[in-house]
Parts: sequence; C-alpha cells; structure tokens
Amino acid sequence: MLLRADRLPTAVRSPWSAVLVVAVLAALARAGDYHSETTLRCSDCHVMHYSQSHGYGSNGSGLVRPLGSFAMPKLLRASVNDLCTSCHDGDLAATDVLDAENTGSQLGIVRASGYLARDGVSTAPHGGHRLDSFDLAPGSSPSWSAASENTPGVGLTCINCHDAHGDPGSNHPTGGQYRNLRDDPGFSSNLWVTYNQTSGANDLMRDVYVRQPLAYDEAMMDWNEPNPNRSAIARWCLACHTDMHGGGNLKAFAGGSQNLIALLDEHPFEGEDLENDMISQYNSLVNRVKVMSEIGQWSPAGSDATPTCVTCHRAHGNANPYGLIFRSGTGIPTENGDTNGTTVTNLCNQCHEGGTP
Ligand code: HEC
Ligand code: HEC
Ligand code: HEC
Ligand code: HEC
Ligand code: HEC
Ligand code: HEC
Repeated sequence: MLLRADRLPTAVRSPWSAVLVVAVLAALARAGDYHSETTLRCSDCHVMHYSQSHGYGSNGSGLVRPLGSFAMPKLLRASVNDLCTSCHDGDLAATDVLDAENTGSQLGIVRASGYLARDGVSTAPHGGHRLDSFDLAPGSSPSWSAASENTPGVGLTCINCHDAHGDPGSNHPTGGQYRNLRDDPGFSSNLWVTYNQTSGANDLMRDVYVRQPLAYDEAMMDWNEPNPNRSAIARWCLACHTDMHGGGNLKAFAGGSQNLIALLDEHPFEGEDLENDMISQYNSLVNRVKVMSEIGQWSPAGSDATPTCVTCHRAHGNANPYGLIFRSGTGIPTENGDTNGTTVTNLCNQCHEGGTP
C-alpha cells in the first residue's frame, strides 16, 4: 500500500510512530473539531482484521459498528460514504447529515449545512450535493468530478470535502480548519477556513465564529470577514466551481477585483457590502440568511455586511433547487429557509426590496 505522508494523521508520520501514537494522542489536548487529535479514534473508521466480534470495552463490551460486505482498502470498516453515514445518518452517535429527517445526536436543530442526498437512493426532492454522484461540478475549470479524484467507480464522497483525520497540515495558520474541511479540495491547495471557538470573545481575524463546540445549529455559528475583499468559504467552494457566478474572474485577474465581477453582471460573493436600503430591508426581517461581518455584528447588520455562497446555498443541500435558502423572514427558521418561504424571490427579498436590485 502506498502511503502519502501528507495524508497521514500527524501522529503517525514519524518512523517511531508505532510506539508513539498512543503517547502523542494522549499528549495533545487542544480542543478542536471532532475527529482530530484527542477525538481521532482510529477504530471509529479502521479495523485491523476484516472481522470483529467484540466492542472495545475492557471485557469486550460495547457497540460493534458494522463492517462493509468485503474487506476495504486502507483497512477501512466500509466504503467511505457507508462508513461515515454509519454514524452520521439516523444514529444517536453523531449528527445526521443525510436526507431531511434528522434522527441523529442533535435532534431538531437547523443544520447549518442542511443535508445531503445519495444518488440513486434518496427519493425526496433535493438540491445541492448528492453523494455517489459522477456529475461534473458546475463551473469547474479544468473540469472536476469525483471520478477525476477518487478510485475508479467511486462518486462524490464526504472526503472529497472533509479531511477524515481532521489534520490541516503543518503550514495551516491556526492549526484548525473549520469542520475539518480539506485545505485542498478540487485541484487547489492551501484553502484555509479558520475558526475560533472561545465562548464569549470572537477573534475577528478568523473566518468563522463558533459559539459552542460540536454544536451545528445555524444559530451557533457566524461568518467573520477578516479581509473585506475576500471570503474564505467562497474561495473554498470555487476550488470545484471555478467559474460559477463570476468566480473565474478571480483566477483570470490575479488578486481578484469585485468591480470586474459587478461589470460582468455576476452576483457578488465577496468584496461588496450591503447598501443602505439593503441594510434596512435585511434588518426589518426576523429570520435572516447568513452574511459575513468585518466587525462581528450580525444583528442588526451594518454597512460592513457582505453576502457569500452560503448566504444563498446550504453547503450540503436541502429540498429546494440548488440547495437555495427560501427565507421569507417570518415563521419558523428551517433548513429550506423558513415555514413561510416558498420561492427564490424570498431569498432575494432578504436584501433587495420588491425584487428590484
Ligand atoms: C473518521 C474516520 C477515520 C478515523 C477516525 C481515522 N481514519 Fe485513517 N483513514 C480514514 C479514511 C476515510 C482513509 C482513506 C483516505 C483516502 O482514501 O484518501 C484513511 C486512511 C488512513 C491511512 C492511509 C493513508 C493513505 O494516504 O493512504 C492510514 C495509515 C490511516 N488512515 C491511519 C489512521 C490512524 C492511525 C488513525 C487514528 C489515529 C485513523 N486513521 C483514524 C478514516 C479515518
Ligand atoms: C463512530 C462514529 C463516527 C464515524 C464512523 C464518523 N463520525 Fe464524524 N463525527 C462523529 C461524532 C461523535 C462527531 C461529533 C458529534 C456530533 O456529530 O454530534 C462527529 C463529527 C464530525 C464532523 C464535524 C466536526 C466538527 O466538530 O466540526 C465532521 C465534518 C465529520 N464528523 C465527518 C466525518 C466523516 C467524513 C466520516 C467518514 C470518513 C465520519 N465523520 C465518520 C462520529 C463519527
Ligand atoms: C470537492 C468539490 C466540490 C466542492 C469543494 C464544492 N462542490 Fe458543489 N458540486 C460538486 C459536484 C461534483 C457537483 C455535482 C454533483 C452533485 O450535485 O453533487 C456539485 C454541485 C453543486 C451545486 C448544484 C446542485 C444541484 O442541485 O444541481 C451547487 C449549488 C453547489 N455544488 C454549491 C456548492 C457550494 C456552495 C460549495 C461550497 C460550500 C460547493 N458547492 C463546494 C463539487 C464540489
Ligand atoms: C461538497 C462538499 C461536502 C461534502 C461532499 C460533504 N460535506 Fe460536510 N460540510 C461541508 C461544508 C462546506 C460544511 C460547513 C458549511 C457551513 O457551516 O455552512 C460541512 C459541514 C459538515 C458537518 C457539520 C454539520 C453542519 O450542518 O454544518 C458535518 C457533521 C459534516 N459536514 C459531515 C459530513 C459527512 C459525514 C459527509 C458525507 C456523508 C459530508 N459532510 C459531505 C462540505 C461537504
Ligand atoms: C445571491 C445569492 C447567491 C450567491 C451569493 C451564490 N449563489 Fe450560486 N446560485 C444562486 C441561484 C439563484 C442559482 C440558480 C440559478 C442560477 O444559476 O442563477 C445558483 C446556482 C448555483 C450553482 C448551480 C449552477 C448550475 O448550472 O447547475 C452552483 C454550482 C452555485 N450556484 C455555486 C455557488 C458558489 C460556489 C457561490 C459562491 C462563490 C455561489 N453559488 C453564490 C444564488 C447564489
Ligand atoms: C444577503 C443580501 C443579498 C441577497 C440575499 C441577494 N443579494 Fe443581490 N446583491 C447584494 C449586494 C450586496 C449586491 C451588490 C450591490 C452593489 O452593487 O454594491 C447585490 C447585487 C445584485 C445585483 C446587481 C449585480 C450587478 O451586476 O451590479 C442583482 C441583479 C442582484 N443582486 C440580484 C439578486 C437576486 C436575483 C437575488 C436572489 C437570488 C439576490 N440578489 C440576493 C446582496 C444580496
């Protein structure tokens, strides 16, 4: 088996790893995202022999997670999507990220990312990302589909976007990537989405403010804007959707210019703040879509507020076309928008009054 050192958990890169793994893992106590450092439990995902008849309790007790129907490469318990969804779908062990019904560890939350579907399996209407899909990423240049990256025959998986080992690499500026997102999705590298998780104080130099560890309700996080001309999450999405909504301009003109995007009649996803009439429209609503803020103030939002990709789209998807968030501003917030939201115009009217830009 060919091992790429840069894809290994930090703890196993050293030649001494066999003896050091346990000691190193125990020594690292930084509170980070799940599946990193102290919460990276090898046996969650790997099995040493393709057979397991006992749990990991001292007397062999404990839950035994299912194994796939045949032995997997890299000693994985099952193929990647089956493996991840064995905990992340309908199991109280973890957050349910698949399909509308949320029967995971965090019942009833409005998942910030919405939910995924599985190609050929999920039947309910769904817009956004479909696991196992072989489709090209719309707007990708050069063309990117999961087939261009994965083992032949394997469509889109969780680890095309997330790092299974939650390891952002040694040159990451803060040592922790938001939601264990990969820093090299698509054909890119060094796409950092930094976050801070200190309750009370928000570090405005980090891209995301997470109010409580392991809480994934949209109300528990917000987008900072450390650089007013840049959106870290937009650059991350554009790794696969290069030319989408004018993103190609960023590539064509090094450094990027919001004016070029406006000139080419594309909707801004960074660099353009809400104008005064938009601010009053936005603040008049009770339920609001997420915008980035330079000063860390979202309610009421000010003249530093900026829309980005996840203002309009759920990262995993929802029941609406393209995972768009139909949020009318009234009613109860939902992953589709809110209980009174019915069309894309609801989304536009979050900032543009009466449908006119
Ligand atoms: C959340 C699930 C998960 C956990 C926990 C996990 N791994 Fe992995 N690991 C994976 C997946 C998925 C791959 C396959 C990556 C790929 O194909 O690119 C992998 C690949 C590997 C590889 C092969 C690397 C390569 O590039 O081929 C090694 C070695 C490895 N893991 C060791 C570990 C060790 C040691 C631990 C515990 C410290 C661990 N893993 C914890 C999911 C996990
Ligand atoms: C053995 C169960 C288990 C398996 C298998 C598993 N996870 Fe998790 N995962 C968890 C738990 C527990 C959490 C944290 C609590 C929660 O989700 O409610 C978590 C959290 C996460 C998070 C959010 C991290 C954060 O704190 O922001 C991501 C992303 C994630 N998992 C991805 C994956 C991927 C990708 C795979 C497959 C390679 C996978 N998980 C497999 C149990 C599991
Ligand atoms: C690793 C590559 C990759 C990344 C990163 C990525 N996407 Fe995608 N995206 C795809 C692929 C492949 C498809 C087509 C297959 C599918 O629908 O899942 C797609 C499809 C879509 C679609 C169309 C879905 C539909 O219903 O037709 C939207 C919208 C989208 N992505 C938005 C985003 C947003 C927003 C982000 C950032 C949060 C993002 N993508 C990040 C690969 C990616
Ligand atoms: C196309 C890229 C993509 C794929 C595929 C993907 N994720 Fe995510 N995921 C994201 C992004 C981006 C976020 C953070 C978005 C946000 O906060 O708005 C996220 C957030 C999460 C979270 C935090 C919960 C939440 O609602 O924010 C978990 C847990 C998670 N992903 C697990 C998974 C698992 C497990 C899979 C596969 C079953 C998977 N993801 C597939 C991009 C992806
Ligand atoms: C102001 C809201 C808004 C923002 C911001 C936004 N989008 Fe969209 N996006 C839409 C709408 C509406 C559609 C569907 C109609 C269309 O294509 O114009 C769409 C469609 C898409 C599609 C599907 C296109 C296709 O041809 O299948 C992708 C992929 C996508 N967006 C990705 C992104 C990415 C990546 C970003 C950030 C760089 C982003 N969007 C920012 C509103 C938005
Ligand atoms: C979160 C706020 C927000 C939402 C939601 C939003 N927009 Fe915008 N929109 C903006 C901002 C900010 C600008 C840039 C204003 C400027 O020119 O400085 C803009 C600009 C525009 C423009 C002018 C683009 C140009 O080339 O000058 C159009 C057209 C537009 N939006 C349409 C839409 C549509 C259609 C939707 C719904 C799919 C939508 N917007 C949703 C904030 C938003």
